[in-house]
Parts: sequence; structure tokens; C-alpha cells
Amino acid sequence: MKDRTVIFIIRALVLLGVMLLFAACSPQKPEPVKTVSIADGDIDPANWGKAYPLEYDSWLKTKEPKPPKSRYKKGYDTDLIIYDKLSEFPFMALLFNGWGFGVEYNEPRGHYYMIIDQLDIDPSRLKAGGVCLSCKSPYAPKLEKELGLDYFKLPYMDVHAKIPTQFQKLGVSCVDCHDNKTLAPKITHPVALKSIGYLGLKPDQLTRQQLRSLTCAQCHVTYVIKKDADMKSIDLFFPWQGSKEGDISIENIIKVIKSDPAYLEWKQNVTGFKVGFIRHPEYEFYTRNSTHWQAGVACADCHMPYMRVGANKISDHDVMSPLKNDLKACQQCHAESAQWLKDRVIATQDRTVSLMNRAGYAVAVAAKLFEMAHKAQAEGKTIDKDLYEQAKDLYLEAFYRVIFMGAENSVGFHNPTEAGRILGDAVALAGKSEALLRQALTKAGVAVPAEVNLELAKYLNNRGVKELNFKPEFEFKDPFGTQEMLTPARSLGK
Ligand code: HEC
Ligand code: HEC
Ligand code: HEC
Ligand code: HEC
Repeated sequence: MKDRTVIFIIRALVLLGVMLLFAACSPQKPEPVKTVSIADGDIDPANWGKAYPLEYDSWLKTKEPKPPKSRYKKGYDTDLIIYDKLSEFPFMALLFNGWGFGVEYNEPRGHYYMIIDQLDIDPSRLKAGGVCLSCKSPYAPKLEKELGLDYFKLPYMDVHAKIPTQFQKLGVSCVDCHDNKTLAPKITHPVALKSIGYLGLKPDQLTRQQLRSLTCAQCHVTYVIKKDADMKSIDLFFPWQGSKEGDISIENIIKVIKSDPAYLEWKQNVTGFKVGFIRHPEYEFYTRNSTHWQAGVACADCHMPYMRVGANKISDHDVMSPLKNDLKACQQCHAESAQWLKDRVIATQDRTVSLMNRAGYAVAVAAKLFEMAHKAQAEGKTIDKDLYEQAKDLYLEAFYRVIFMGAENSVGFHNPTEAGRILGDAVALAGKSEALLRQALTKAGVAVPAEVNLELAKYLNNRGVKELNFKPEFEFKDPFGTQEMLTPARSLGK
């Protein structure tokens, strides 16, 4: 053999070795060992679990309390405590007074509890009817098909009773997020299928990365429950008309809510205004031009990171806050330490909460001035109509922005710059509303005190809910000063 041939063979062998080494080290796309198809219409997760035991076991873990590693999203911690959002943010108790959310409004916890928490919550929260099951039960799509309009309208407990007994407490399951034949992620909820259409998306043309967010967007979005003249629920949709994927703005959401009186779901006691509502807009907020969305990161990347179980690599189905999982999800992409990453999250959240309190109390002050104006009118005084209408418009714009950020579950982290934009606008809009109302009241001969008494204790205490595990007689001081974090909570079972 000539020397050159020997060198060639050695080189080829080295190259082959490098290639093999490279293949072994590069991250493998986790593929289930084999795809087992599940019978059509099989909703029972235990049956899916027989084919996919690892995913099933991690899914079951959403039942377990999580370590207290978050500053704001305390959820359900190992002290078995559930946190009361209204005492965390007392301005919400004032603004939501008039319906269920002003009575009981808790921080979220694991997926296992979604129906259990509905059955446990103050019944005033379930007044909308069967429609409330839409994002809670894997039976919801089936019930909606069978019951039609009655599914939305009938009392919650009547529709709930139609779920087979052994599944009456079953929350989000395999069938909600997966195709039963291929196990590919899939959108299955009718309301989501309809609403992604508003964005111009087609269910059969979605990429896997889109689905790694859109499966969550079946529920982690805001929605509207359309009402008939008797305030009975008649429809459910996400207010995304006129929006695009990656650009569902708060401005557009407000526009849809304001476009039809049938979308105004309740009456705010303080102002007497009929208003709409905004719930957990995680998908809308995250996808509106955030750094991570622009980098192609999906919900599942941070909330369902890959993990090793023995020789296998699976997506963690114990869906939870990345903080409670020691930032492992982040470290798949970021080389920084867990502590550094956590500090970034907390810094963003602190800033968001400070701005949210500023905006929230500014809106609450305007609400109390409307109350004063209405009282003055009842006493025969004249309130300037122009000033009043302008103030009302500004108030509603600020109000919807504040409740959007108050309901978004990452406390600003999903999209820090958007949080600043929305809350900054809310502060300005509420301030302008207050100024116009002060002008109108002064013109009518009503003296407005420099410091408006919000009477927070009236809204916060005696809500008729389960015993609260904090001092109710706390004193409220300066709406624009730094709010000391209360640590309100209720122990489980109270
Ligand atoms: C069928 C509706 C539904 C779907 C689909 C869904 N969620 Fe949830 N999620 C909920 C509800 C409801 C809760 C609150 C449960 C409670 O507090 O009882 C929740 C809670 C959570 C929590 C808080 C968990 C904790 O321990 O406090 C996280 C995080 C979360 N979801 C992320 C996701 C992600 C990521 C996806 C997509 C992979 C997703 N969810 C899909 C309805 C859903
Ligand atoms: C809230 C939505 C959701 C629920 C509920 C859910 N999954 Fe998944 N699952 C996902 C997502 C998202 C992925 C990642 C898919 C991808 O990247 O292609 C996934 C991946 C998988 C995979 C592919 C392998 C892996 O681990 O990445 C299997 C198998 C699987 N899930 C089984 C199940 C089973 C069994 C259940 C019920 C016990 C279940 N899933 C419940 C969202 C869900
Ligand atoms: C870049 C990572 C990242 C992405 C992407 C992401 N999240 Fe989050 N999410 C977080 C962090 C960090 C928090 C704050 C957790 C805390 O404070 O404990 C959070 C909080 C949450 C919470 C509240 C958790 C709790 O314990 O109460 C929910 C629900 C949630 N995210 C859902 C989603 C959904 C739905 C998407 C996609 C639309 C998404 N997230 C995308 C990182 C992410
Ligand atoms: C799938 C990959 C991926 C995951 C998972 C991920 N990131 Fe990122 N992150 C990126 C990319 C890409 C950027 C933008 C490029 C850059 O600035 O490095 C980014 C930017 C950031 C930034 C700076 C930009 C900003 O928004 O202020 C912070 C802070 C950050 N990530 C924190 C986190 C935290 C905390 C988690 C986990 C909760 C996380 N990331 C999860 C890929 C990821």
C-alpha cells in the first residue's frame, strides 16, 4: 500500500469517528419509542397512559404542591396554601365589586385542579353557566356538540352532571392537546378552532412550533361570553377579530369588546357601568413582539422542557412555573446560572407590579370620582356632559389595560416592554380621566378632597368567602407610594 493510501484511510476513519461522535452528542429530537394509536373517542388518560407511561406519570404530577420559589406566582405551595389575588392587589376588589371576581379570585395552581377549584369556588363565579366548563373539561367539546345552545346557557352544575361520574373532576387531558392516532400536538377545542380563524390560521396548516404554543392558547387567552337580553350566555369566542398572529394588541381586544353591548358581561358596582372582562391573556401578551417570541421560542419550551427519565427523553408534562423547576427550561438555551436568570425574572416582575399598582389605584380613584358624580346628579346637581363622556371613555380604556395586565399570569416576564407600554398608557389615561372628573365636579359645586378615600376595606372584607388567612383590618395609605406586599392566603379546605 502506498503511503498516500494509508493516510487517506486513516483520515477517512478519523472523519467517520468524528461524525459518529457528533451524531451521538447532538440533541436528539425526542421521539416516542413507537407511536401507539389510541381508539377514537377515548378520553380516559389512563388508557393513553398505558401506551405512554412516562408522559402520563409526569402529567399526574401536576397534582403535587410546588416549592415556594416564586415571588408572585405562589400558586399552591408545600404549605397547602392558595393565594387570594384580591388581597394581593386590593384595587381589584374595588374594581371587580359587582360580580363573582370581586368575591373570590385566586392565583392559579396545577392543571390537575382545574375542575376541583371550580367546584370549590364561590358559586357567584359560575353564574355564566355550562360555558365555564369550556376550558376545564376534556368533555367540553363533546357536550357542546350534543347540547348546542343549552351548553352555554344551562346552569353550570346541570351541564357538569352530564360528564360521566368518574371523570367529573378530570382536568386538561391527553385528548385536549394530542391527535389520538399520531400523538402530534393538536388543537381540539371548538372555541379555539373558531378563534384562530380570526387570525387567518388554518388548523391543518400549523407547524409543530406553532402548536407548541397554540395547544396552550386553547385556554391561556382572554375570551368573551356573549349574552342575550336576559344576560344568559349564548356564545364564546376569543376577541381576536381584526388581529394577526404575533399582533393581538390590547387596543384591538378593547375595540372588539366595545363593538357590541352583548359582549358586556357584568355591571361594575362603583361606577354602575356595564363592562366587559379580560382573563389570562398569556398567548396574546407573549406573542406581541416579545424577544422570546421573535426568537421562535414556544410556551412548551419554557413550561414543558425536555427531561430525562432513565434512558428516555420526554417533554415534562408537569406543566409549571420555570422558577419552581429551578430554571432548568431556560438553561436549555441560556448559559447563565439559575440564580442570574431568576434575578432577571424577579426584576421584571417587581417593575411590573410597581407600575400595575400605580395604574390600578389611578383607575380606582377615577372610579370613586364617578361614584361622587353620580351621587351629585342624584342630588340634583348638573355634571357637564362633555367632560363626563370624555372621562368615561378614558376611564374604560385605562380599566381594560389594567385588568389585562392584572390577569396575565407571568407578571410581566412574558413581554417586559409590552407590560411597560400598556401600564404606562393606563397611568396616563386614568390620570386624564381623574382630571376631567375633578373639573366636572368642581363646576357642579362639589368639593373634591385632594386624597380620595377608596374605602378599600368595604370591598375587601366580608366578601362572604371562605375564611381568609390574613388580617382583614389592614390600613390602606398612599395609592402612589410603594405598596407593601401583603401575604394574603387561604389555607386549603377553609
Ligand atoms: C384546557 C385548558 C388548558 C390548557 C389546554 C392549558 N392550560 Fe394551563 N391552566 C389551565 C387552568 C384552568 C389553570 C389553573 C388551574 C387551577 O388553578 O385550578 C392552568 C394553570 C397553568 C399553570 C400554573 C401551574 C401552577 O403550578 O401554578 C401553568 C404554568 C400553565 N397552566 C401553563 C400551560 C401551558 C404551557 C400549556 C400548554 C402546553 C397549558 N397550560 C395548557 C388551563 C389550561
Ligand atoms: C396541555 C397540553 C398537553 C397535554 C394535556 C398533554 N400533552 Fe403530551 N405533549 C404536549 C406538547 C406541547 C408536546 C410536545 C410536542 C412536540 O414538540 O411535538 C407533547 C409531547 C408528547 C409526546 C411526545 C414525546 C414527548 O414527550 O415529547 C407524547 C407521547 C405525549 N405528549 C403524550 C401525552 C399523554 C399520554 C398525555 C396525557 C396523559 C399528554 N401527552 C397530555 C402537550 C400536552
Ligand atoms: C421564555 C420562557 C417562557 C415562555 C416562552 C413562556 N413562559 Fe410562561 N412563564 C415564564 C416565567 C419565567 C413565568 C413566571 C413564573 C413565576 O413567577 O413563578 C411564567 C409564568 C406563566 C404562568 C403562571 C405560572 C404560575 O405558576 O402561576 C402561566 C400560566 C404561563 N406562564 C403560561 C404561558 C403560556 C401559555 C405561554 C405561551 C403563550 C408561556 N407561558 C410562554 C416563562 C415563559
Ligand atoms: C428555546 C430557547 C430559550 C429558552 C428556553 C429561554 N430563552 Fe431567554 N432568550 C432566548 C433567545 C434566543 C434570546 C434573545 C437573544 C439574546 O438576547 O440572547 C433570549 C433572551 C433572554 C433575555 C434577554 C432579553 C429580554 O427579554 O430581556 C432574558 C433575560 C432571558 N432570555 C431569560 C430567560 C429565562 C428566565 C428563561 C426561562 C424562564 C428563558 N430565557 C428561556 C432563548 C431562550
